[in-house]
Amino acid sequence: MKREEWLKKGFVDEPIDKSIDLKAAINKLKKEKNAIILAHYYQKGEIQDIADYVGDSLALAQWAAKTTADIIVLCGVHFMGETAKVLCPDKKVLVPDLNAGCSLADSCLADEFEQFVKEHAGYTVISYVNTTAAVKAVTDIVVTSTNAKQIVESFPKDEKIIFGPDRNLGNYINSITNRNMLLWDGACHVHEQFSVEKIMELKAQYPDAIILAHPECKSVILKLADVIGSTAALLKYAVNSSEQRFIVATESGILHEMQKKCPQKTFIPAPPNDSTCACNECNFMRLNSLEKLYNCLKYEFPEIEVDAEIAKKAVVPIQRMLDISKKLGL
Ligand code: 13P
Ligand code: SF4
Repeated sequence: MKREEWLKKGFVDEPIDKSIDLKAAINKLKKEKNAIILAHYYQKGEIQDIADYVGDSLALAQWAAKTTADIIVLCGVHFMGETAKVLCPDKKVLVPDLNAGCSLADSCLADEFEQFVKEHAGYTVISYVNTTAAVKAVTDIVVTSTNAKQIVESFPKDEKIIFGPDRNLGNYINSITNRNMLLWDGACHVHEQFSVEKIMELKAQYPDAIILAHPECKSVILKLADVIGSTAALLKYAVNSSEQRFIVATESGILHEMQKKCPQKTFIPAPPNDSTCACNECNFMRLNSLEKLYNCLKYEFPEIEVDAEIAKKAVVPIQRMLDISKKLGL
């Protein structure tokens, strides 16, 4: 009965005794249950700090694929949990809050995408990892922002390609590979709202600042950027660079790891169009909390389920991506 109620809510809402040391309790449960906690860079700092691994979408899939743990707690969004489940069908994959969706994945409904693919016979289908397992099931190869360029370039120049669902990433990859892939018209609500004017104001205030941008941003923002890359690539650049100040145009959760790795450097989150909102935070990513993580491990709920037929098809393009990435040393 309780589980039905939790399922309706999307997370376990059992009250937690205030005297409990949550971090110690999570670590204890993790050991007892042979679980690992994987967290994306956009998670709240408290979750990144307790995770076994923190990384970008590619790293999360790679860690899920090779873990020997019995339970994977994916602190990220639903499609990341699905990817882990598809790669590890025999493991229990949990996400602290099932409501953690993704506006980009939502911009590509599986039946509409499948119809689009059917209408374009002879096209190779490349899908960004920010898609449902059902979309991956009609995909030839999955990419993340870390490997999209190399994977697209692994196909002949004249290959006819459908790229979905992110039009901004698709446009960017078209521009740097000199291709003309057919793009699905989707986007992420966080990366779409950065303001050119406000970034330029910041740059005028701090002329020494390096602008870092994720390729999910619109092309007008990417034109301003000094460095364009996945969360992992932006972090790596910030760590290795001798520059001291950075304006960061991606979800602001990444600043936690940047600041942690480079305590002397200054990171300024790129402001959204509407300065009254915290729109450079992904409301889905931020649904996960330490409390929900504790309850999720304790009750082993909510669990990610993927239809077996869909999983059988979706694993093929995901595994293809992992194999190519390994060969490329990514
Ligand atoms: P990466 O993790 O590949 O940088 O992508 C960011 C993102 O939007 C995840 O949802
Ligand atoms: Fe999806 Fe955008 Fe949130 Fe990433 S930041 S999970 S693309 S909604």
